[in-house]
Amino acid sequence: MEFTIKAGSPEKLKSGCIVVGTYAGGDLGAAAKAIDKASNGAISALIARGELDDKTGATLMLHDLPGVASPRVLVVSFGKADDLSDKAYRDAISAAARQLAGSMAHEALFCLADAELPHRDLAWRIAQATQVLKDSTYRCDELKSKREESKKGVRKLTFLVKKPGDALDDALRRGEAIADGMALAKTLGNLPGNVCTPGYLATTAKKLAKDHKIKVEVLEKGDMEKLGMGALLSVARGSHEPPKFIVLQYKGGKPKDKPVVLVGKGITFDTGGISLKPGEGMDEMKYDMCGAASVLGTLKAIAQMALPINVVALVPTTENMPGGAATKPGDIVTSMSGQTIEILNTDAEGRLILCDALTYAERFDPTAVIDVATLTGACIIALGNLTSGLMANDDALAAELLAAGQAAGDKAWQLPLWDEYQDMLKSNFADIPNIGSKGAGTITAACFLARFTKAYKWAHLDIAGTAWKSGADKGATGRPVPLLTQFLIERAGQ
Ligand code: BES
Ligand code: MN
Ligand code: ZN
Repeated sequence: MEFTIKAGSPEKLKSGCIVVGTYAGGDLGAAAKAIDKASNGAISALIARGELDDKTGATLMLHDLPGVASPRVLVVSFGKADDLSDKAYRDAISAAARQLAGSMAHEALFCLADAELPHRDLAWRIAQATQVLKDSTYRCDELKSKREESKKGVRKLTFLVKKPGDALDDALRRGEAIADGMALAKTLGNLPGNVCTPGYLATTAKKLAKDHKIKVEVLEKGDMEKLGMGALLSVARGSHEPPKFIVLQYKGGKPKDKPVVLVGKGITFDTGGISLKPGEGMDEMKYDMCGAASVLGTLKAIAQMALPINVVALVPTTENMPGGAATKPGDIVTSMSGQTIEILNTDAEGRLILCDALTYAERFDPTAVIDVATLTGACIIALGNLTSGLMANDDALAAELLAAGQAAGDKAWQLPLWDEYQDMLKSNFADIPNIGSKGAGTITAACFLARFTKAYKWAHLDIAGTAWKSGADKGATGRPVPLLTQFLIERAGQ
């Protein structure tokens, strides 16, 4: 979908479809009012007759209204006007997107950004709408033998505003960039384990680097051995696919500005290793690289919007397989940090690949490090599929990330990382075990990582519940690309 912004009168401009908003109780938004007036009250008459539900996201498609240049008018309800929330705004946009996708109109004028949303300016409303609209057109049909080309659906969408300008154009481009970053993250997540291997992630990173003037380096197994990445390598032992360690450097800021380092868990398939997972639903462990995918997607988004900031992305990536050479429960390995780890459960592999990446991050002298990982099933028990888990060794950084999640509609919630929890990680034979004693699985996983992040400010996002959806609409969500991108936009002072 292509997006533009312009000014004009809703009733006079001609397009395939014009989209206008209303509120519960029959109140009309500004554009709806103009259309209503031009058509001698056609919209208010239909609402008075009860043709449009009061609920958020209810829609009514009207055809050939007298006095209106566009042949279709899509009326969308925001729900109650007085407590219009970010969520209601997004839900109304999504509902409009669904209607537009099934319509014969190929062009649309979009007036829903005129919604009266407390605390959100027009730039925010345009960025969010663009992101939601563009994201709604995402399809993953690369591996279908026949692709369906639909004749329906809007291809060109114009936001109608009072005063166009650079700030709104920027907002629009940001919304598009975030949706494009999400699309990359979704596709990488959705591709199966036999396609999206560590090598495939490395190739994708190289392509991303080439398209956007990002520096890229891919470390091979031999390089990891030299660096002493014994924890990461212990996970790769059971697999025939060679592991990779991807390093991307986006330099949009001043040369001397310290970078934000993003680290993404890239387990391209998690069988559990010798501590094998049960068979049911195991296909979903192809999504165990969604942390990596979101980090690559975020880099794409910020590069596309030419954000003035320095960001490094680190992606440790491997399969977790139960091969003949695989690590066994009880094995002890030495991490890059020098700390020894007793691997009591080979299914707690994410923290093993992350800990070496977190040690590697030190060399960039980062201003902050954020790792993103589908790390624990326990996080799904704690927060379900709506909210990512956030833990940090710095409360100001945590607060920034929570606020970014709120603004982006990609929310996280903080869990405690108090010292007391460190007592749950004790090994009789090594410095640290890779699993904690019973309970608080999300926190003990973060406690493990915290042992490797003492040199800098660090936050950890557990996206086990939010990175993909199960069931009929199974698929990657592209989260937390919006949260991370919003955080970086704020950090860049934009
Ligand atoms: N990738 C999984 C976590 C996961 C499970 C994410 C289900 C999403 C859905 C991770 O590697 C894992 O297996 N974690 C174990 C840790 C345990 C052995 C301490 C878990 O959560 O069961
Ligand atoms: Mn696992
Ligand atoms: Zn895993």
